[in-house]
Amino acid sequence: MRKIVLASALALAAAAMPGAMPGALAASTAAHPEAIDWSFNGVFGTFDRNQLKRGFQVYKEVCASCHGLHLIAYRNLKDPGGPEFTEAEAKALAAEVEIPILDEAGQPATRKGTLADRFPYQSQPDQKATLKSAYGLMPPDLSLIAKAREGGADYIHALLTGYDHEVPEGVTVPEGGNYNPYFPGGIIAMPKPMSDDQVEYAEAGVPRTVEQYSRDVSAFLMWAAEPKMEARKRIGFGAILFLGILTGLLFLSYRRVWRNVDH
Ligand code: HEC
Repeated sequence: MRKIVLASALALAAAAMPGAMPGALAASTAAHPEAIDWSFNGVFGTFDRNQLKRGFQVYKEVCASCHGLHLIAYRNLKDPGGPEFTEAEAKALAAEVEIPILDEAGQPATRKGTLADRFPYQSQPDQKATLKSAYGLMPPDLSLIAKAREGGADYIHALLTGYDHEVPEGVTVPEGGNYNPYFPGGIIAMPKPMSDDQVEYAEAGVPRTVEQYSRDVSAFLMWAAEPKMEARKRIGFGAILFLGILTGLLFLSYRRVWRNVDH
């Protein structure tokens, strides 16, 4: 019995030590991402609508050929707190994609996307197989990646801009791998996805650089991972304010109730 207790105590202690987990060990070998001054940082931070629109464009034109974003639907693009495309714009964006269906004869066919459809990319078995054989693994779905990775948007930005570092001595880059110091372990299967001037922004005065594209798409992925962030912050602030006022009122009633009592 004592042995069992000791063994479970040891197992618990091992699990509680972050260094004991292989994932955490690997993460500690990665370079630290630069902390960016995002518009959505802090208690009152909100998304920059234009940045989210540009980030969507980068996602659509660059990342979507390899990565899915299956938790986001086209209607989300017009929801408050997001890129806030107009309804007509969101409908037009949805209509650009072909959604696979079965026709009346039961044969595979496609129809135009609607607001109710989710982002369909990479949903087809043949697309999956092509990607898997090209990269040795399936590029992960990006719906929650900004929340799933330590550093969130800072990490994604660092990863996307982190391809041009010189390979340090002693590191060998295997075939099909790319050196990126921000990726745990330093070797990533994703090739450098962007170069300057690749995406044509319609907005005047916005630089067409990998740096800017990376910022915009990282902000977009942050929104995708938490589309209700702005509402959450607003409600949270309201709740704290309410509790503050309630505390004041309760204190005043306490004073009043005990006014004539010696205590
Ligand atoms: C040519 C295909 C391709 C394109 C284009 C591409 N990726 Fe990737 N991406 C991959 C592959 C493959 C992986 C898996 C890498 C690995 O685990 O070694 C990956 C992994 C990632 C990861 C996860 C890293 C981690 O911590 O696990 C992020 C984030 C990411 N990509 C973001 C993007 C963004 C944003 C874009 C668009 C600017 C993009 N990717 C474009 C193929 C691609």
